[in-house]
Amino acid sequence: MELLCIQSQEHPELPLNELKAVIECEEMDVEIDVITEGLVILKHISVHDLDQYYRILTRRLGYTHEVHQVIKTSTVENMDEDMLSIEWQEYIDENFAVRVKRFNSEINTVDVERRAGSLILQKTDNIKVKLKEPKTLVRLVSYDETIYIAIEKYHLNKRHFEEIKPHKRPFFYPGSMNPKLARCMVNLSRVKENQLVLDPFCGTGGILIEAGLIGCKVVGSDINWKMKNGTAINLEYCGIKDYRTFHLDVRELKMYEKVAAVVTDPPYGISTSTGDIEGDDIFKEFLNVIYDNMLDDAYLCMASPHYVDLDPMIDELGFELVEQYSIKMHRSLTRIISVIKKSKNR
Ligand SMILES: C[S@@+](CC[C@H](N)C(=O)[O-])C[C@H]1O[C@@H](n2cnc3c(N)ncnc32)[C@H](O)[C@@H]1O
Repeated sequence: MELLCIQSQEHPELPLNELKAVIECEEMDVEIDVITEGLVILKHISVHDLDQYYRILTRRLGYTHEVHQVIKTSTVENMDEDMLSIEWQEYIDENFAVRVKRFNSEINTVDVERRAGSLILQKTDNIKVKLKEPKTLVRLVSYDETIYIAIEKYHLNKRHFEEIKPHKRPFFYPGSMNPKLARCMVNLSRVKENQLVLDPFCGTGGILIEAGLIGCKVVGSDINWKMKNGTAINLEYCGIKDYRTFHLDVRELKMYEKVAAVVTDPPYGISTSTGDIEGDDIFKEFLNVIYDNMLDDAYLCMASPHYVDLDPMIDELGFELVEQYSIKMHRSLTRIISVIKKSKNR
């Protein structure tokens, strides 16, 4: 069986690599077929795994907009015949809408939506079209001459990323990370539900909110007590219960329970204070101290500005670089996202 993912195209690599990281840490047995940027098909999923994989993907992913179950792979030429060969009654509950999404395709979406809708009505009894909030969404995705006929079983809540934007939370302070990127970084850290995630520069808690919402236990610390308290306020607001927050300088960090992942956005630039640590030294101090607080197979996903050269620090302090991405913020700042793990020989 197959799942089709429609992804954001706001970054050329992060959406696909976020998906790959989730597939890896959740040990999903799938083949990844990238049709084009923004369109990925996960193939060879057993009937037994399909539902569970579907739920995990919709619950976790940040840079994926929609996930659908593929019912049939058709073509522009054979679409009518293939639509009529499907037992729609098995998939549609009371009412439905058909929506078409095109990738590199010339088809007329309105015509195809109407046509597909009437073909479904021909094959079913007691089922209606409902364009607003239908119970079942039939998704047709066209790429070149191919048409994927799919349905949405579990909805990926894209609105969450709008509703939880930093200025909409009860505790706000400038410099908080965009929630989609925060979610993506949590996913790149390969952490799983119920595992412990640490952000030692937690600020307003943006990263911990995303980790908490996918079911992780979270710990945050910050040198500024207002931030430490603000993180707790924001976590409570998001309904996250399994958390602890501490008021401390990263250099004093000593976790009783070692963590499965560290996801963080250390301070840089003029607006953040670093507790008397000069310039780039905060990165070195952080990497040095974090090592002993991580489980041996833990990953660290961190942001840094382009002008800090992390590579020699990673090497020197006993880490290995797994992957790295750049995000252009504005003319003079590119943010680097690094995924790092402990190397065997420190
Ligand atoms: C870029 S902000 C983190 C933003 C956070 N991701 C959010 O969503 O709000 C960096 C945070 O590091 C904290 N900080 C600075 N120096 C620190 C240190 N030496 N130890 C611990 N926290 C520190 C600052 O108080 C600030 O809240």
